[in-house]
Amino acid sequence: MARYITFTNQKGGVGKTTSVLNIGAALASKGYRVLLIDLDPQGNLTQSFMTEMPSDTIFTILMKECSLEDVLFQVKENLLLIPCSSKFANFERQFAADADSQYILTDLLEDIEKAYPDQLDFIIFDTPPALGLITLNALVACREVFVPMNSQEFSLTGLEAVVDVVSRVQKRANPKLNMKGIFFTQHNPRKYISRNMADTLAANFPGLLLQTYIRKNVALEESPSLRQDVFLYAPESNGASDYEKLTNEILKA
Ligand SMILES: Nc1ncnc2c1ncn2[C@@H]1O[C@H](COP(=O)(O)OP(=O)(O)OP(=O)(O)O)[C@@H](O)[C@H]1O
Ligand SMILES: [Mg+2]
Repeated sequence: MARYITFTNQKGGVGKTTSVLNIGAALASKGYRVLLIDLDPQGNLTQSFMTEMPSDTIFTILMKECSLEDVLFQVKENLLLIPCSSKFANFERQFAADADSQYILTDLLEDIEKAYPDQLDFIIFDTPPALGLITLNALVACREVFVPMNSQEFSLTGLEAVVDVVSRVQKRANPKLNMKGIFFTQHNPRKYISRNMADTLAANFPGLLLQTYIRKNVALEESPSLRQDVFLYAPESNGASDYEKLTNEILKA
């Protein structure tokens, strides 16, 4: 059984996409078979792999306008991507009225599992910066949630909103859902912030703060525009070593 993971935070620019890209790449290079699913109409994850937006995307597969085979793009050894274009902004309008509007992605994962039984080790969702129907679908379909947090703009209220949605989904639609961890990104070790923040987090969300801090690192910022993950672009960088460490922590979580 594959691990189904969502990276989410309704706050924009906290490192969701950077984390999905580099953790996905790290897992694939360790030999795990990984599927990344871009659920953000901004398409940032897709653009970090593809120069041109393909015509088949998460939206067309959900609209049943193409086959699974058409939408699973191999972007690297062991790494598949279901891309996302701006058309996916129509998701709410298209599906909100359905009785099973929360289960659209659950159905998709079931179809994938049926078509490719036991062929994947990880399915990872990148979500948009909102707690709307798209993110809700991801939380209903997955088993594990990780929340990246920008250490420069730590917000307890924002975090409480994510944790609250996760626990509501857990109660009803998806009892198998687990809040697995919160981690800091864009961390500047020279600035005094972490002690206080780490204490506040530990007090409010015991056991959830991961040990790895992702430092602010220019290679993480530059690599996506060259369609590279950080391990290919700058294997000796802090970004590569931090994401390697975080991936190992997630493997043990
Ligand atoms: N550790 C880091 N060091 C330096 N830059 C980073 C780091 N993590 C992310 N960035 C940069 O910060 C910006 C936002 O990161 P990213 O796109 O991963 O966030 P996001 O949470 O996916 O944003 P959105 O909510 O818009 O989808 C990007 O330009 C990215 O390259
Ligand atoms: Mg993003």
